[in-house]
Amino acid sequence: MSENLYKPLLQSFEFNNGFTLKNSVVMAPMTNFASHEDGTVSAEEEAYYIRRSQGVGMVITACVYVSKSGKGFPGEFGADTDQLIPSLRKLADAIKGQGAKAVLQIFHGGRQCPPELLPDGQPVSASAVAAELPGGGNGPVPRALTDEEIVGIISDFGEATRRAIEAGFDGVEIHGANTYLLQQFFSPHSNTREDRWGGSLEKRLTFPLAVVEAVKRAVAEHAKSPFLVGYRFSPEEPETPGITMAETFTLIDALKDTGLDYLHVSLQEFWSLPRRGTEDPRPRIEQILDRVAGKVPVIGVGSLYSADDALKALQSGVSLVALGRPLLVEPDWVQKVAEGQQGDIATEINPAEQADLVIPDYLWTAILNTPGWVPVKG
Ligand SMILES: Cc1cc2nc3c(=O)[nH]c(=O)nc-3n(C[C@H](O)[C@H](O)[C@H](O)COP(=O)(O)O)c2cc1C
Repeated sequence: MSENLYKPLLQSFEFNNGFTLKNSVVMAPMTNFASHEDGTVSAEEEAYYIRRSQGVGMVITACVYVSKSGKGFPGEFGADTDQLIPSLRKLADAIKGQGAKAVLQIFHGGRQCPPELLPDGQPVSASAVAAELPGGGNGPVPRALTDEEIVGIISDFGEATRRAIEAGFDGVEIHGANTYLLQQFFSPHSNTREDRWGGSLEKRLTFPLAVVEAVKRAVAEHAKSPFLVGYRFSPEEPETPGITMAETFTLIDALKDTGLDYLHVSLQEFWSLPRRGTEDPRPRIEQILDRVAGKVPVIGVGSLYSADDALKALQSGVSLVALGRPLLVEPDWVQKVAEGQQGDIATEINPAEQADLVIPDYLWTAILNTPGWVPVKG
């Protein structure tokens, strides 16, 4: 039998802490809107993860709120109280039971939280600056957090990490991407503070770095075996002012010295080009890899639907490739590559196949009603 061309994707990967993944494909974090109102994981959601955890080396879960003030989505699950540990354990067991490592993505939505999901109906952020909405107009004006509240949220990230450890997860990913609270503190658009949390590029890093420190401290205090800590960031913002590539390089310089196990670059398109803040015309990911200079493993993501797409991405020098939408569309992606059936990988959702794809109802409806998001047949 001829050698599998896609072997690099199937090769195991060892993190610096000795933690080994059975292959180099990761499930990207994807919110599925299916958790119960009280923040517990539903049976529907568990089934969705089980369907996707057999092939990949590691599953990064949907984001989970660490504080009540950070719930960003209806049907989002929680890690903000010890009562939720049994529910978190159920999810960790479901994923690990299929042979993948399980990483919990920990999150606070900040100004992006819908007011109706918050206890007092008031989103919070670094400063009282509304988000610019992609379709035009602005989101609600958030309330600027007090110093004491900021310290409290940092501690919430540490507590959520302790709960992830107690629930049996293999790691946490700090969600510093996609315009949520950590990014809001780093961004000159949403952070106009003049105290220790803002006022200069360096001070805008204070909150994200304090979260990393709190998470690492929780790991040092509570983990009895190697436990991964990753950080996800978005390289640029469209707003002016907003995060530029140059500022992202500063963020990378700061993060790569903190002892993180990996960096995860959040992109819709793996090969996307920079907008501003660099004279270099090469894709963002290549410039980011140059800046990281091999100090920390990097996970790349973004529209890698075929085995060829993923292989080419891996050959750019990222350590691991993550698949989000491709795994919604094709839960058997890795198994098909392993069995030489890469030509049979589905690249569009068949609207008749919800049951076989095991996609929770709310997410299914959102996919069918949002043209251009997840590819749908016809
Ligand atoms: C349904 C859906 C939910 C998502 N939820 C999250 C999330 O909870 N956290 C996160 O960091 N990214 C989230 N993303 C972004 C994905 O992780 C990924 O970066 C993006 O979809 C591009 O990769 P892909 O082309 O492989 O899907 C979500 C994407 C989708 C399609």
